[in-house]
Amino acid sequence: MGRLAASILAADFGHLADQMRMVEPHAEIFHIDIMDGHFVPPIALGGVVVASVRPVTERTFHGHLMVEAPESFFEELAEAGLDMVSFHMEAVTDPEPCIRKARGAGMGVGLTLNMETSVEAVFPYLGSVDDVMLMSIRPGWSGQKLDPAVLPRVEAIRREMERAGVDIGLEVDGGVKLDNARRCVEAGANVLIAASAIFQAEDPAGVAQQLAEIAKGG
Ligand code: DX5
Ligand code: ZN
Repeated sequence: MGRLAASILAADFGHLADQMRMVEPHAEIFHIDIMDGHFVPPIALGGVVVASVRPVTERTFHGHLMVEAPESFFEELAEAGLDMVSFHMEAVTDPEPCIRKARGAGMGVGLTLNMETSVEAVFPYLGSVDDVMLMSIRPGWSGQKLDPAVLPRVEAIRREMERAGVDIGLEVDGGVKLDNARRCVEAGANVLIAASAIFQAEDPAGVAQQLAEIAKGG
């Protein structure tokens, strides 16, 4: 059953808790983008923000680390309240120790791939992670357009997951809107991440509800 992840990057941070409560009925996951100004040009969010919104909801907090040396942040972020952490394949030389370290900190763990990285790079790890996230934009900014070239990439990973008999998250991150969400699900995604589609909408809860229905295959 597919799920919606609301990415808070496009929320109004002056009213973050209210905005989260508004979409909480439809978003099973809150996606929290963490950027260090090195792996991607901007800086964004971190343990302080995670901890301050942790009391707002019991929904899953999934941190998307766009940082160098991601493993150096795991302990702090787990303590702050992340349930799950994803880091970029491009940020590490060997994912295995990082996967173990994330689990050691008590979090679920996922791998993220930029568009330029071949999908085969993630195949050896499908049995050791809980989630694969495919970027459909250049990481760092909300509000870009989804690159449709992500769709065959989703299909390829879905095929490999089925071949290997693993049932884990398969997420699309970037530019997901009401008019392209169904194509992502048809390609095999079971988690739709959306920031601007939800938080820049006039009716964030209404859009979140529709995206959640599409994620569920409706
Ligand atoms: C960008 C982030 C995305 C972003 C998506 O680097 O990883 O999660 O919040 O924003 P939208 O949905 O507006 O493309
Ligand atoms: Zn993200």
